Amino acid sequence: MSSSWSFAVARDDLEQTTVVEKELPEPAGGEVLLRVDRVGLTANNVTYAVLGDAMRYWEFFPPEPRGLAPQWGLPPVWGFADVVASTVPEVVVGQRVYGYLPPAGHLVVRPERVDGQGFRDASEHRAGLPSPYNAYRATSGDPVYRADEEDLLTLFRPLFFTSFMLADQIIDNDWYGASALVFSSASSKTAYAAAAELAGRGPRLVGLTSAGNVEFTRSLGCYDDVVPYAEINELAVESVVYLDLSGDPGTRAAMRARLGDRLVRDIAVGLTTQTPNMEAAGEVFFAPVQMRKRREDWGRDGLDQRFAEAWRRFADIAGARLEVRTGKGPEGLRHAWLEVLGGRTPPRAGHVIEM
Ligand SMILES: NC(=O)c1ccc[n+]([C@@H]2O[C@H](COP(=O)([O-])OP(=O)(O)OC[C@H]3O[C@@H](n4cnc5c(N)ncnc54)[C@H](OP(=O)(O)O)[C@@H]3O)[C@@H](O)[C@H]2O)c1
Repeated sequence: MSSSWSFAVARDDLEQTTVVEKELPEPAGGEVLLRVDRVGLTANNVTYAVLGDAMRYWEFFPPEPRGLAPQWGLPPVWGFADVVASTVPEVVVGQRVYGYLPPAGHLVVRPERVDGQGFRDASEHRAGLPSPYNAYRATSGDPVYRADEEDLLTLFRPLFFTSFMLADQIIDNDWYGASALVFSSASSKTAYAAAAELAGRGPRLVGLTSAGNVEFTRSLGCYDDVVPYAEINELAVESVVYLDLSGDPGTRAAMRARLGDRLVRDIAVGLTTQTPNMEAAGEVFFAPVQMRKRREDWGRDGLDQRFAEAWRRFADIAGARLEVRTGKGPEGLRHAWLEVLGGRTPPRAGHVIEM
C-alpha cells in the first residue's frame, strides 16, 4: 500500500470529474492515517458541492495537498474508515470510525479529545469550520452501531440526524401553531425520515413530490397525503409550515400563491434541485444549531440516548425499503456522483461505494 487517490469535481461545473493518484501520506507526530472504507452518496453530497463556497464545504478537504489545482474540489461524503497508521497512543490501528470523509482512499487527521466515543480532527484548516463535521465516532463506543447495518448507517446517519433535529425543533416550537406541515422533495431520505419521526404526533403531514415518485412516497406510509408538484393548487390545508427540501423557486412561488398568509412558516432545509433559493425562505434550518441547543438542555449523553432510540425506530422502517446499489473505488464513486447529480437515482435506492 504505497499510493492513494482522490476523486474531485470541477467547482464550477459539477459534471466534470477527475481522479488523481498520489503517494500515500505518512502521519506526522500527533497524526493518524485513516483508510476510507465505505461511503454513501445522496443528493445531500451534491448540495455540499452546490453550497461549497457559500458554506465553506470545499474547505474540509482542500485539493492542494492532494496535488490538484484549486478549480477542483473534493465533495465531502460520510462513511466508515479504519485507522491504518497512528502516532497517537490512544488511537489504535484497527479502530473503525464513522465520520465526514473526503471522496478519497485516505485521510490524515490530528485527533484531539480522544475518548471511548472517538475523537475530533484538530487539523488547523478545519478549526473554524462547523464542529459537528469534525467528530469521528468510534464504532466500538457507539450505541447506534451494528455491524450488520453498516450500509444503512453509511447512507442515513447524517440525514437522519438532521431529520431527528428538525422534527425536534418543530415539536419544541409547538408545530409553530400550524395545522399541517408540507414537505417538498418528500421522497428524499431526509424528508421522509423527518416525516417518520413526526407521523401521528400532531398536524397533518403532506408530501410534495415529482409525479414519478408519488407511488413510492405514498408507500412509505409516513405522510397523510402525497401530492405531485403540479397539483399544489389543489392543496386543501389551513395553516401550513413549509419545509423546503427541493429549493425550487417555482414550488415556493406556487405555495405562496396558493396559501397566502396561511403559510405561517417557510423553512429552507435543502436544495435537491441544486438551486440555492434559501434567501427567499423565511429561515434556514441548519441541524448543528438545534443540536447545540439540545446538548445544553439534555447533555451530550442525553442527546445520544434520544438519538439512538429514534434511530432504532427508523432503522427498521428504512432498512426494509432501502435498495443498496454498491459501487467500487474511483469508478464506482464517479458513476454514483453522476447518477445522483443527474437525478437518475430512484428514491428507494442509495449508493454505497466500497473505496
Ligand atoms: N439543512 C441541513 O442541515 C440538511 C442536512 C441533511 C440534508 N439536507 C438536505 O436535504 C436534501 C435531501 O437530501 P437527501 O440526501 O435526503 O436526498 P435524496 O434522498 O438523495 O433525495 C432524492 C430526491 O431528491 C429529488 N431530486 C434528486 N435529484 C434531483 C435533481 N437532480 N433534480 C431535482 N430533484 C432531484 C427527488 O425528489 P422529489 O421528486 O420528491 O422532489 C429525489 O427522489 C438535500 O438538499 C440535502 O442537502 C439538509
